[in-house]
Amino acid sequence: MSDQPTEDRHTRSHGRKTIMATLKPRELITATPDLARAWKAQVITLFPEAFPGVLDLSLTGRALQEGLWQMDTIDLRPFGEGRHRNVDDTPAGGGAGMVLRADIMGRAIEQARARMPPDAPLIYLSPRGRPFTQGMAQDLATRPGVTLICGRFEGMDQRVIDHYGITEVSMGDFVLTGGEIPAMALLDATLRLIPGILGNAASTQEESFSDGTLEHPQYTKPASWQGHDIPPVLLSGNHGEIARWRQAQSEALTRERRPDLWARRKLPGTT
Ligand SMILES: C[S@@+](CC[C@H](N)C(=O)[O-])C[C@H]1O[C@@H](n2cnc3c(N)ncnc32)[C@H](O)[C@@H]1O
Repeated sequence: MSDQPTEDRHTRSHGRKTIMATLKPRELITATPDLARAWKAQVITLFPEAFPGVLDLSLTGRALQEGLWQMDTIDLRPFGEGRHRNVDDTPAGGGAGMVLRADIMGRAIEQARARMPPDAPLIYLSPRGRPFTQGMAQDLATRPGVTLICGRFEGMDQRVIDHYGITEVSMGDFVLTGGEIPAMALLDATLRLIPGILGNAASTQEESFSDGTLEHPQYTKPASWQGHDIPPVLLSGNHGEIARWRQAQSEALTRERRPDLWARRKLPGTT
C-alpha cells in the first residue's frame, strides 16, 4: 500500500498576532512566521491538508486566529525519492505492507527540529506507545510546543525512533490508518490547558481526570424532560450540599467504571 503524491501540499500558517523579529537569513525563514509567545504545534505528515482541521473551530480556532498558538505542518512527501517522491519501502525480513524509510523521515525530522526550541518534545503517534493521559497533556501545555510525527502504512523504521530518542504515544488499544487523528486529539487535549484558550479556567480544574476521578453527571434546563427530573439537590441553592453530592457521584462513577483510576487516585494529603 502506498499513497500517491497529490498537488497543493503546502505548509499552512495560521494566527496573526505579533510576529517575532528574526536574525535568520531569508532562505532559512520558514513559510510560517514564528509568533511571539505562541505555543507551537508542528506536525510531520503525508497529509498536511488535514490540519488544523477541527482545531480551527470554536475556542481552539479562535485562539489560533488570535495567535495564542500556531500550527505548522511539514509535508513528508517532498522529502521522498524518485518521480513519485516515494517515502516508504517493503519491510526488511518480508511481510505485508510498507514502512516509512529512515533516511526520508530523518531529513524531515532534522528540518522540524531546527524550527523548534530544544525543550519541545518529539512524539511519534503509535499504537505501541505509552497511553496518552491528561497528565501528559498538562505537561505538554507547559512546554513551548510539540513536534508530532504521524505514521502511515506499517509505521516508521525503528532506527529513527532509537536515533532521536522519540517518545511513542498511543491514543488507545486500537489501530487507525494514520497518526493524523491521534495528533489532532493530542493537540486538542493540550491546547485547552494553555492559559487564555478556554474562557473559564475553572472548567479544566473540575473535569474528568483533573483529580484522578471521572466528572459527576451534568444537567441543565428544562427541569423536567420526558418524565426525568433534575436531581432536586442541584436546584436547592445549597452550594455545600451540591458540592458533596457531586463529589459522591464522581467517586461512585469512578469506582464503578474505572477501578484502575480509582486504585491510582491521589488521596488528599498524599504526594
Ligand atoms: C496502520 S498504523 C500502523 C500499525 C502498526 N503496524 C502496528 O501494528 O502497531 C499506521 C499509523 O497510524 C498511527 N496510529 C494507528 N493507531 C494509533 C493509535 N492507537 N495511537 C496512535 N497512533 C496510531 C501511527 O502513527 C501508525 O504508524
